[in-house]
Amino acid sequence: MDDRPIGVFDSGFGGLTAVRALHALLPEEDILFFADNGRAPYGGREREQLRRMAKQDIDLLVGGGVKAIIAACGTVSSNAADVLHSASVPVTGMIEAPVEAIRASGGSGPIGLIATAATVRSGTFAAALREACPEREVLSVACPDFVPLIESGHVQPGEPAVQEAAERYLKPLREKHLTTLLLGCTHYGLIEPALRACFGYEIEVVEASSCAAAAVAASLRKEGLRGAGSGRLRCLTSGDAALFTRLAPLLLGTSAPLEVRAIAPMEE
Ligand code: DGL
Repeated sequence: MDDRPIGVFDSGFGGLTAVRALHALLPEEDILFFADNGRAPYGGREREQLRRMAKQDIDLLVGGGVKAIIAACGTVSSNAADVLHSASVPVTGMIEAPVEAIRASGGSGPIGLIATAATVRSGTFAAALREACPEREVLSVACPDFVPLIESGHVQPGEPAVQEAAERYLKPLREKHLTTLLLGCTHYGLIEPALRACFGYEIEVVEASSCAAAAVAASLRKEGLRGAGSGRLRCLTSGDAALFTRLAPLLLGTSAPLEVRAIAPMEE
């Protein structure tokens, strides 16, 4: 038994997909979420900068007394694996669990990875997918317009700017008759209906955050580290706390008020 909270971090609102999935699986666990909205997006940054920021984000959560962390950021997970592995508490990233889910589903046909520019450039997801599913073609597309749109609040279903960007990025994948779409950026789970709508046929959509949350739930059970808290969610944001307080409940699908605390963006 371990009643310390589980830590989750991301550059911003995307991490709420992991919070949502974790809370659904482990409703009694307390969660401490850090949304680095003040420094989002991460996806256009260089690897060294991402490694430094990942360390800062992890140190912040470790300082908050967490027992385990979900790095709910495909960009950090694909560029700073060494930083995640060297933390003083177990850190689960966004690569292994969704790739394993795709392997285990035993599908066939081309797999499309959509993610940030830094994630696609790292080649981490593509390499892991090729190793897990050597017989399947892997196509990677960077979608740099999605995160700024989501961070500025374009999250309602049917937002024309999101739909237009989705159509532009996903058209080449649809033309390749994709069968599996891997959302390699956690923000994209917040616009999943817009992404699905671009295909016009049933497609397997794999969202990295929910796969990682399931892996964390299994590992806490196995290690005997489950907590018996009240499911308290505390949120830290380095961005606009009023915007966070307004948007986060919508994205989490809750009407309960959230505990939100603003912190100053860290020095890069
Ligand atoms: N949500 C993050 C990811 O999964 C970061 C996106 C960004 O800030 O560019 O990659």
